[in-house]
Amino acid sequence: MTLLVTGGAGFIGGEVVRLALERGDAVRVLDSLRADVHAASVAPPDGVEFVHGDVRDPAVLDRALAGVDAVFHEAAKVGLGVDLQDAPDYVASNVLGTAELAAALARARVGRLVLASSMVVYGEGAYRDAEGRRRRPAARTVADLDAGRFEPRDPETGHPLEPDLVDEDDVLDPRNVYALTKLAQEHLASAWARSTGGRAALLRYHNVYGPRMPRDTPYAGVAAIFRSSLARGGAPRVFEDGAQRRDFVHVTDVAGANLAAADALDELPGGTARAFNVGSGVVTTVGELAAGLARAMGGPEPIVTGEYRLGDVRHITASSARARAELDWAPRVALADGLAEFASAEADSSAADGGGPEQGRLASEGVAR
Ligand code: UD1
Repeated sequence: MTLLVTGGAGFIGGEVVRLALERGDAVRVLDSLRADVHAASVAPPDGVEFVHGDVRDPAVLDRALAGVDAVFHEAAKVGLGVDLQDAPDYVASNVLGTAELAAALARARVGRLVLASSMVVYGEGAYRDAEGRRRRPAARTVADLDAGRFEPRDPETGHPLEPDLVDEDDVLDPRNVYALTKLAQEHLASAWARSTGGRAALLRYHNVYGPRMPRDTPYAGVAAIFRSSLARGGAPRVFEDGAQRRDFVHVTDVAGANLAAADALDELPGGTARAFNVGSGVVTTVGELAAGLARAMGGPEPIVTGEYRLGDVRHITASSARARAELDWAPRVALADGLAEFASAEADSSAADGGGPEQGRLASEGVAR
């Protein structure tokens, strides 16, 4: 198979490239090497045909798609961002980029697409009340957050709710700009499939971590932020009360899910797109992650700050049973092993220049006490 990986010089795309090469696929990478994600010196992955360009450029896409059997669309602007001033760039990068890709796929008659989506499409996710009934909480108010009431409450009774695992058929409820761009990407992939007879897998990634995770940007995930603090000798700063739940899934497992999804695409009926949650299946709190990394790096105990970020969801954990059942895939990296490796690996210093000030900006503009 000849595969195109958009964003193939990035954290997740790069791992898809590595695994695809390992199993003998021919790999082409399309990457813009944009400066807010990559250091100027970043080298394209070895052993691949590299197309340097923007996924929004139709001519670049036509060149990149020639002779390709399947596309992995990993190029995106990720994370929560700084504030609403980021919105236009999220929409331009993620929504317009995917629309251009869909149009180019149709021109090139490429019929297989694996899309990097995200758990953020579920918003607050699924909860149950004391009687075990499914409930959808309203967004947390500033007053609640300021008062340290972090748990979402039953909209009718006001009682706290128990988080539950979401599955792919749960309600989609994007709650920030990044989340809505990921949902728009999914809809574009579905529209493309319907109108061309193509097949798409929509992979809703959980919180991905791994050795080359970008650090010290407003778009960095919490594991990278904690690792950077510990590497500087500082304590990880845990927001809210540290009990917020996530599923931290290793980048190699996510890349494995991408290849497994591409292999399974031909079993889907033509003209359809199917969503798959991709997580480790293990629920971890942010406080536990901080403590685990601090131990692995021999650093100071985490500090629970009580700060919060507006737009953060409280708990988001999903069932990845569908991916296991239908993609012949299972996560392999246990969190303790993944964190030990993560703790000792060199961070991707991309965009690290100025990382300190950026981090300060996030704290002053994006976080409230
Ligand atoms: C993350 C991803 C998002 C992805 C989603 C999948 C990032 C930036 N965001 O969102 O792209 O789609 O997972 O589920 O990678 N926190 C701290 N201290 C810090 C920073 C964060 O305690 O210094 C807390 C946050 O308040 C939040 C949790 O850690 O409760 C996770 O934050 P983050 O890593 O940004 O991830 P998500 O918001 O889950």
